[in-house]
Amino acid sequence: MTSLAIELGPVHLQSPLIAASGTVGSVLEFADTIDFSRYGAVVAKSVAPEPWPGRPAPRIAPVDAGMLNGIGIQNPGIEAWLDETAEHLVDMPTHVWGSAVAHDVDGFAVVASRLDRAPVAAVEVNLSCPNLDGLPFALDPELSSAVVASVRGATTKPIGAKLSPDARPVAAVAAAVAEAGADWVIMGNTVMGAAIDPHTRKPVLSGLVGGYSGGPIRPIAVRCVLEIARDVPGLPIVGCGGVSAAEHVIEYLLAGASAVGIGSAHFSTPRIATRITKDLQRYLRRHDLAALDELVGAFEPWE
Ligand SMILES: Cc1cc2nc3c(=O)[nH]c(=O)nc-3n(C[C@H](O)[C@H](O)[C@H](O)COP(=O)(O)O)c2cc1C
Repeated sequence: MTSLAIELGPVHLQSPLIAASGTVGSVLEFADTIDFSRYGAVVAKSVAPEPWPGRPAPRIAPVDAGMLNGIGIQNPGIEAWLDETAEHLVDMPTHVWGSAVAHDVDGFAVVASRLDRAPVAAVEVNLSCPNLDGLPFALDPELSSAVVASVRGATTKPIGAKLSPDARPVAAVAAAVAEAGADWVIMGNTVMGAAIDPHTRKPVLSGLVGGYSGGPIRPIAVRCVLEIARDVPGLPIVGCGGVSAAEHVIEYLLAGASAVGIGSAHFSTPRIATRITKDLQRYLRRHDLAALDELVGAFEPWE
């Protein structure tokens, strides 16, 4: 079988496919449905220092070709997560990454220090969460840098910083988190969006604004990957947003990503990674490529 193994900074992954945080539940509850051996890593739902109740319904809605979610990062808090979930993750057939979230810099360090002793191979830092001023950390290079520096001080595990496609210029945030100690960036989270039902006049989400994900955000995230690869050379990137086929994975690799997250597509096609894996292997054979890393950043610009 053709190997899809890749290097993502300091880590070796058996596949470039990453199951994106929040789209495979706690990971455990999807273990019988999804073949996690098809992934290089699966990312647990983001977890905070204390339990977060999340927003009331409605908090998920289909919108044209994509979807909106305003879950409010509902999670049981790090202590309950460690008690109920963490110990079972050792049985997973691939790496599991923890995901830290908090409303302030110190809160991220609390979660990271607890994840440091959990059976997770890396710590993802979810910077798209609002800080105490109500704005996502990910929009601000200095705040993002402060969060990643605090996480760096709290764990020896590899760190991935999850950026927002809403940040401009996003490469400034990427450079700041790399300087603060991130081993790679995930580009990225959902795009902020909203929708209103013309019949009920109600917003489709109780929180009005939420995260837009799925196929339509892929060109936005690919543009962000191109900018980071150009402006922060050498920083490993996980492309994420709107992936539902092997062609989309290849597109992200050509743009400069080394690995690729799959998110919303899990809701319609839980076993999507099985098909994408076969199609990626077919692509390598057809193009006579020995390994996927030959594709990283290899897009051909127009003259
Ligand atoms: C219902 C839902 C819940 C999510 N929860 C999280 C989360 O807890 N932490 C996080 O970092 N990203 C979360 N995300 C963002 C995804 O991990 C992913 O970055 C985003 O959806 C873009 O990828 P996609 O277009 O393939 O869905 C969530 C996305 C959805 C749709």
